[in-house]
Amino acid sequence: MNSLGRCGFVADRYFTSKGGPTMKVVAFNGSPRKDGNTHTLLRAVLAEVEQEGIETEIVQLGGRNIRGCIACLKCFENRNRRCAVDKDILNECIGKMEAAEGILLGSPTYFANMSTEVKALIDRAGLVAKANEDMFRRKVGAAVVAVRRAGAVHTMDSINHFFTIGQMIIPGSSYWNIGVGREKGQVSGDEEGMRTMQTLGRNMAWLIKKLAA
Ligand SMILES: Cc1cc2nc3c(=O)[nH]c(=O)nc-3n(C[C@H](O)[C@H](O)[C@H](O)COP(=O)(O)O)c2cc1C
Repeated sequence: MNSLGRCGFVADRYFTSKGGPTMKVVAFNGSPRKDGNTHTLLRAVLAEVEQEGIETEIVQLGGRNIRGCIACLKCFENRNRRCAVDKDILNECIGKMEAAEGILLGSPTYFANMSTEVKALIDRAGLVAKANEDMFRRKVGAAVVAVRRAGAVHTMDSINHFFTIGQMIIPGSSYWNIGVGREKGQVSGDEEGMRTMQTLGRNMAWLIKKLAA
């Protein structure tokens, strides 16, 4: 049994020692700066999610070996919920998304857009999901974006395209999910940004529970 009281599972749903299902949010940190601003923002969201008894995990994506889609379209031939290019971490990421009720995609703003690693994840996981009847449909998804000055709204909108085309459901917050900072840790000083993340975390947990009810 783990720290959350997980003691067994039926089908693909885990149950705690109290008999309730254990739900999960998986977050991907698309910044190569492991403990940078994107990570700080993701942690702020996840702290609220954890308060609601939902398990969380951060997967370090930025700086890892993940290439873009090669358009082989084998995923549409195989329809096995996996990418045919099995040489990097993509299929592991797809597995984690599949097992979670909620997916957070965190990215720094790079030239007014998401990081290369987040784009690679979206292109490949997105196509695999399409080849498999929108396999992430009705999961809860949200973007989290770190920015120095400009381009974060565009980055958030770009990431949201992944959720909306895949029949996923996006919770809102009190502002767009953006935190301002340049150097590592500076985003903690963006009080409104941090509050936005906390509200997002609470809304995400609320929505996940409503969908499971
Ligand atoms: C390649 C690169 C491109 C960037 N482009 C932008 C940009 O378009 N707009 C902006 O405001 N900040 C930009 N930044 C700054 C980062 O978005 C900002 O420092 C962010 O907090 C980094 O998040 P991290 O600490 O999680 O890596 C850029 C940084 C890098 C390294």
